[in-house]
Amino acid sequence: MQILTTAAELQAYTEQARQTGKRVGLVPTMGALHAGHLQLVQAARAECDEVIVSIFVNPTQFNNAEDFRLYPRLPEADAALLGPAGCTVLFEPSVDEMYPQPTVLRFDFGDLERVMEGAHRPGHFNGVATVVSKLFHMARPHRAYFGQKDWQQVAVVRQLVADLSFDLEIVARPTIREADGLAMSSRNRRLGAEARAVAPLLHQVLAAAAAQVQQGVPSAQVQAEANIALAAEPLITPEYFEVADAQTLQPLTAYMPGRSVVLCLAAHLGGVRLIDNVVVE
Ligand code: PAJ
Repeated sequence: MQILTTAAELQAYTEQARQTGKRVGLVPTMGALHAGHLQLVQAARAECDEVIVSIFVNPTQFNNAEDFRLYPRLPEADAALLGPAGCTVLFEPSVDEMYPQPTVLRFDFGDLERVMEGAHRPGHFNGVATVVSKLFHMARPHRAYFGQKDWQQVAVVRQLVADLSFDLEIVARPTIREADGLAMSSRNRRLGAEARAVAPLLHQVLAAAAAQVQQGVPSAQVQAEANIALAAEPLITPEYFEVADAQTLQPLTAYMPGRSVVLCLAAHLGGVRLIDNVVVE
C-alpha cells in the first residue's frame, strides 16, 4: 500500500493506472476506521484493480468547531487496517493541500438539503460536495463507494454526480452495526460508558417505527411515539426523527406500497451527536 499526500501524486498515479486499463475505486473517509468503512474497501477491492482510500477530516463540512476539534484522528491504526483490507493507495492530504485557497463556490441541493442533516447542519452538504468533487477530480475513479449509514449524503452525492456529469458510478453499501444494533460510527469512540450503554435505543426505536410504518400507522403518530421513546432516556436528546420518501427525502404522511420509505434520526448522547436510519422497502 502506498501513502500519498499531494493531489499531483494521486492524479499521476491514477492517470497511469487508467492508461494501463485498470479500474479505479475510491472510498472517501474521514478516518478512525471501523467495519463500516472496511466493507466499502472490500467492495472496492472485489470490483476494482486500484483501491484509493482517502482519509481527510474535512473542515468545511463541520458546522461546529468543537465537533471538528474532537473528531477522532488515528492515522497509524487506520493505515494498519487498510493494507489487509485491500487498499492500494492511502491518500492523506493536509488541509492546505485540499484547500490552497478558501472556496467561493457554494452548492445548493434544493429540497434535498432543506431537510434533516441539511436543515440541522447549515453548510454541511456544501462542504461534503466540495470535498467529494475535489476527490473525484484528484482520483478520477470509475467507482466511488459510500455507506447508507449517511442516507442523505448518498442522495446528495448522486445529485452532484448527475448535475456535474462526473463520469463515474456511485456504489452504496448497507449500514454495518455493532452486535447490539448501534450503527458503527467514528464518533462512537467519543461515547462515555453510560452513553454507550443506552445508544442501542436509537436503532431499537427506528426498528419499532419501521414496523409501524409497514403496518400503515400514520407518520405523525410514528414520529410522535419515536420522540417519546427517545426522550424517555435522560441521556438522549433527540434532534429530529423523520419519516421520508427514500428517494426524494421529503416528509411522507403515510406509507405507499411500492415506494421505499426511510426513517432517519439524529440525537445527542452525552455531548456526541449520532445519526442513524432504516429503510422500509
Ligand atoms: P465518514 O463518516 O468517515 O464515512 C466514510 C464513509 O463510510 C461514508 O460513505 C459513510 O456513509 C460510510 N460509513 C460510515 N459508517 C458506516 C456504517 N456503520 N456502515 C456503512 N457505512 C458507513 O461520510 C464521511 O466520512 C464524509 O462525509 C466524506 C464522504 C468522507 C466527505 O468528507
